[in-house]
Amino acid sequence: MTSNVFPKGFIWGTATASFQIEGASHEDGRGESIWDRFAATPGKILTGETGIPACDSYHRYQDDIVLMQAMNQNAYRLSIAWPRIIPDGDGKVNPLGLDYYDRVTDNLLKAGIAPFITLYHWDLPQALQDEGGWANHRTIDAYVRFVDITVSRLGDRVKHWSTHNEPWCISFLSHELGAHAPGLTDRKIALQVAHNVLLSHGLAVPIIRQRCPGAQVGIVLNFTPAYPATDSVPDQVLTRQEHARFNLWFLDPIVGRGYPQDAWEGYGRDVPQVGSDDLKYIATPIDYLGINYYSRKICHDPLQEPGSCLRNVRDETNMNGGDWEIYPQGLYDLLIWIGLGYNFKNLFVTENGASYKDRISPDGKIHDSRRKAFIHQHLERLLKAIEAGIPVRGYFYWSLMDNFEWALGTSSRFGLAYTDYSTQKRTLKESAIWYGKVAAENALSE
Ligand code: FCB
Repeated sequence: MTSNVFPKGFIWGTATASFQIEGASHEDGRGESIWDRFAATPGKILTGETGIPACDSYHRYQDDIVLMQAMNQNAYRLSIAWPRIIPDGDGKVNPLGLDYYDRVTDNLLKAGIAPFITLYHWDLPQALQDEGGWANHRTIDAYVRFVDITVSRLGDRVKHWSTHNEPWCISFLSHELGAHAPGLTDRKIALQVAHNVLLSHGLAVPIIRQRCPGAQVGIVLNFTPAYPATDSVPDQVLTRQEHARFNLWFLDPIVGRGYPQDAWEGYGRDVPQVGSDDLKYIATPIDYLGINYYSRKICHDPLQEPGSCLRNVRDETNMNGGDWEIYPQGLYDLLIWIGLGYNFKNLFVTENGASYKDRISPDGKIHDSRRKAFIHQHLERLLKAIEAGIPVRGYFYWSLMDNFEWALGTSSRFGLAYTDYSTQKRTLKESAIWYGKVAAENALSE
């Protein structure tokens, strides 16, 4: 039987991203980001919102920390808005931007909460996008400089650094599928962006180590395990292809295995330009891998539809807020696959969560028993993986509070705390109170 106790020192956190919570887009010298531009474009955000004020965390970060304390968190995963630090991407540094993250860091540490910082969670300075964005090599240099400046300022106190959040979303979702900023629909550009982002990761790792003695450096990837719908050969072939394109494409170069050969060949003339030393830089050793897991895909050949042959099982009782199937076993399978197949000394689940149509009940509470069940089931599988010897060191629920969920605006509520956007009042949901108990006991309760 699996024990319900987590290893001593297990990390309990929640995650957020700068653009999703901060607001204050025009304050204290912050420059425009691609998400400001994208959100201001009619039709891009379901709710027609612009991302301002989101949760107004630029002014209310102390309220956020109170929530974390109430949930007994010992860590918090946040990201840095590059346009606050360098408004035009590669020009003058804005000291007020650095001061903000300084304050957040100090207040977190005072509260006994370790900051886990993600350097890039999608808010590229628009000025760099105007020059081609991540498809342009210049952005790689600008990124490395931004990393240098940021880590030089915070590295005496912040010890956990992730270079990027979800390169698949940065590249394919945003440049081939057009669903996220900058909203392009060009596969060749998407593949070059994916490569350039990985290269920027590899080049940034040694800078972080130089500027931050004792740094733990990693990257956060999103994984969607693929399963064949039947054991037919076409379904299995499709599953392998999807796995290679979605999961291996990012993970394998990082560990020095290069791009998966079949997928590379499948991309034909769209493959990226790769400099002679690029793969060597991309494979710079890291200390941990951050794993974001939400759902799985089922691969079924006869379902081939234009642009997609993959979909989640449709079972309305089993969906979280979007159309993502709830599949806790997928987390276990993923952790076992990465844990046994790769050589990481430390793994973190850096995101996992569910979105529901939460409401404040007349009793003033938010009864989100489905979210609690979701977390419970995933933590059970996580414990099982630890028991099998997989080095999972921590779990970050997405998200601390309801926030600006990208193209879905504020219509999608992933938070452990409920955000009332008219007053910016945050209220812990029932799941949050339970999660706080789990963190305090370092054990899965009830
Ligand atoms: C992930 C993103 C995060 C949030 C969750 C729901 O892909 O990293 O910012 O939007 O999905």
